[in-house]
Formats: sequence, structure tokens, C-alpha cells
Amino acid sequence: MAYNSPEGTVDLLPGAARHWRHAQDVAARLFSAYGYDFMETPIFEQTEVFTRGIGEATDVVNKEMFVVRSGENYRRSLEAGTDAGLKGKSRLSLRPEGTAGVVRAVVQHNLVEQGATPAKLYYAGPMFRAERPQKGRLREFHQIGAECLGSTEPTADAEMIIMLVRFYEKMGIPASDMTLYVNSMGDERCRPAYRAMVRDHILSHADEMCEECRRRADANPLRAFDCKNAACAHVMASAPRITDHLCDDCRSHYEAVKSYLDVAGIVYEEDPTLVRGLDYYTRTVFEVQSNAIDAAQNAIGGGGRYDRLAETVGGRPTPGLGFALGYERVMLALEASGALAEASPYVDLYVACVDATVRSVAFDLVRTARDAGLRVEMDHQGKSLKSQFKAAGKMNARKVIVVGPDELEHGQVVVRDMVTHEERTASIEQSKQLLSRFSGDVVDDSTFAAPTQG
Ligand code: HAM
Repeated sequence: MAYNSPEGTVDLLPGAARHWRHAQDVAARLFSAYGYDFMETPIFEQTEVFTRGIGEATDVVNKEMFVVRSGENYRRSLEAGTDAGLKGKSRLSLRPEGTAGVVRAVVQHNLVEQGATPAKLYYAGPMFRAERPQKGRLREFHQIGAECLGSTEPTADAEMIIMLVRFYEKMGIPASDMTLYVNSMGDERCRPAYRAMVRDHILSHADEMCEECRRRADANPLRAFDCKNAACAHVMASAPRITDHLCDDCRSHYEAVKSYLDVAGIVYEEDPTLVRGLDYYTRTVFEVQSNAIDAAQNAIGGGGRYDRLAETVGGRPTPGLGFALGYERVMLALEASGALAEASPYVDLYVACVDATVRSVAFDLVRTARDAGLRVEMDHQGKSLKSQFKAAGKMNARKVIVVGPDELEHGQVVVRDMVTHEERTASIEQSKQLLSRFSGDVVDDSTFAAPTQG
């Protein structure tokens, strides 16, 4: 019996994995310029971290979490016919997103001491949501996310948004192929009254709306803005807009965020219906959509402020904000924009042997160059010279050193440039010395010493 990877998951084979590594490298370089440090949290957490943090009434928690049980607890629950007897700490779920776990860790390890500078953290890894799998919607997908805890200032919001936009730019998504949407969702002072207005709006049009929106009118009325049903969209088009009902503090915070984005020349669209699918948001929310991919999965990243989340997971009041970008969707967006560069592997050098008598010389040359940090390959299968050149081409080798018995007698090797196909002889001993001291970026002709005359 041969097995396939589970539904909604993909194997990151070397080609795809190179892209994933590249995305993480881009993030690492870029985010460090903004003062962010890498961190990791466990892939599973106590379920309550998510139910309390993200919100019981959200789809992510309500429908999409993968429950984790130890074998023993699973057997006990089966025998009892219920897992009601399980202690809180034994109720575990795979993380559907990274924010709740990071904030749990920040609280647990007291990473934001009172009055200290904000904690700026980023992460990259798999997330799990039991969704109906389709293109760009996976059950295991990869996010790169950033969280900043300890600042209420609108500069922090603008900085976070700019960092996200710059990431897409550095990955190569053309600015014309993506749109940044921003909104403010208010806070605990102005949002309750607004929510009640939206609920009343839904209930007064209940007969025109789908069952799900009617059912959610009390628990999560704002989600109706995201309903794909045409009749619901029609009703919600005339619903009250949050931006008309913000309290003064939230309004001036939102205005300041936008003014900083303007100063930075960041193009955005205001979308007063942007509500996001997680309950922890307060004030600023944002989302970046690719204009080049299917509308159902076109959100390539998003985030916002969550000033009450730390308290929700048991900490003291600590304002925070962040974003997460969906790596697979970024890849789809790059592909759709024709901007997905081949992440081809390459070696700096391939050392080819004309016959078996020169193997140990070639082997030593390879070791010397590798010890200096070069990417070097040689044949380990006793292949013909022609096959070795083929292999070097496949590996995108920049140069091939051919070690042959005749040249070796004169202390020489042949160096072929794989781009220009030019060949020259070089002194093996001096070239070896140059290779052992190699400190440049590109292996060029100066890496190989010309043979001495005479
Ligand atoms: P989110 O909008 O749920 O936010 O997810 C962020 C991104 O993850 C989405 O924009 C999308 O690109 C990607 N994504 C989500 N679900 C899937 C899926 N099933 N398959 C493929 N990609 C997916 C969050 O997760 C928040 N934690 C963001 C945040 C950080 N807010 C504040 N801090």
C-alpha cells in the first residue's frame, strides 16, 4: 500500500523548499532592519489559548481547529464516550495561526516589562486549519508573521504595514498587482454600539439573508460583511459603516496611521467593511490582496491591532499588533504575476575526473574548496567525462575543473567556464592555495592561477 500526503497538505520538495527558505531569508533580512527577532512557539497549544484568544464564535475556532489528544487521553475519552473528563491542560489543538501562541509566550515569559521598549517578534512555520482544500486554501499552510507588543502609537501600526508591503516588494510582486486595504474596527468603547447597529440591520433584513448570517447576528454580526452570498452582500452594502461610528480616540488614531502611510508614500484603499475573521482585533486592521489571483483566495496577508489580547490570555494589559502572510498564496501571486523566479540550485565548482587514476587529487581539491566555503561537487559514481559535464550543467556549475592524468603530469588542470565555454589551463598547486583562501562572492578566473612558464 502506497500512501499520499494527507488531504490539504503538500510536501515541500527541494524546489518548493528552496522558495520557502528564500522567503524566510527575505523576511529575516528585512524584519531585522525594523528591529524584529525570530522566535518559535509550539505547533500545538492548550485549546483555550485559541478559543479565548481568537474567539469562540470565529470560523477558525468553531469549525477549523484540529484537536490533538495523546493516545492515552484519546482511549479514555473513547471509553467514557466523552472527553468532558479531560483537564484543560490535556485539551490541545494544532495552531490555526501564530498570534495567540506568541502572545501567550510573551505573557508567560514576561517579555514586555512595564515601561520597557516593545517586544518585536517574528516567526515562520506551518499553521493548520481544517478547511475544504482548494487552490490557495490548505489544511497545513505556512505563515510568516510579526508581532509587536507594548506600543499603542500609530507609528507602530504604520511601521507594521510598511514592513509587510516591503516584504511583498522584495519578493517581487509588482505594486500594480496588489492592493492594500485598511480600516479601523474601533475599540471596546465604540465597537459594542456599532455591533448592535449591524445586528439590528441584519435582523431587520433577516428574510433576505442566508441562514448562517441570521444565526451569527447575535454572536458575530460583523462577519456578515464577509458573506459571499449575493443577497447578503446586497443587504450589507447598506449596513452602517464603522468609520462613521468611531469614538474620538479611535478616529484620531486611525487618521494618524493613515497620515504616516501617506508620508511613506504607501498606497492604500480604505475599506470600512474590512472586519477580518479573528475576534481579537481593535482599531487598525489591514489586508493585502493580490489582483492577479482568484478572489476567493486572494488575501496574501493581513493583520491588525489587538490591544486586549494579552489580558484575554491571562496577562496584564499590553497593547499589540501584527500581521501574518500566507507563503503559499504569495507564491500563487508571484506565479500569476509572472514574477516567480526559478530558485535553481547551483554549485560554484564541479571537479571532473578524466579517469579513476586522478580521483584522489580531485577529491582533495573538492575538500579544499569546500573547507573555504565554496559549493563544490564531484562525481561519486565513476561516470564518463561527458556525463560529468552533463551533471555539472544540471547543477548550474559556474566553473568545471577537469583533472586529467596528462595535465597533472605538468602540475596543471583545465578550467572551463560553463557560461562562455572558454577553457584555460591553471596550476593545480597555486589554484588550490587560492581556493583555500577564497573569500569572494563569485568564482572567477582570478580564483585559478595561470601555470608558470617553462
Ligand atoms: P489570517 O488573515 O487568518 O490572519 O491569515 C493570514 C494569512 O494566512 C492570510 O492572509 C492568507 O494569506 C494565509 N492563510 C490563511 N488561511 C489559509 C489557508 N487555509 N491556506 C493557505 N493560506 C492561508 C492571521 O492568521 C493573524 N494571526 C494575522 C495577525 C498577526 N494579526 C495580528 N497579528
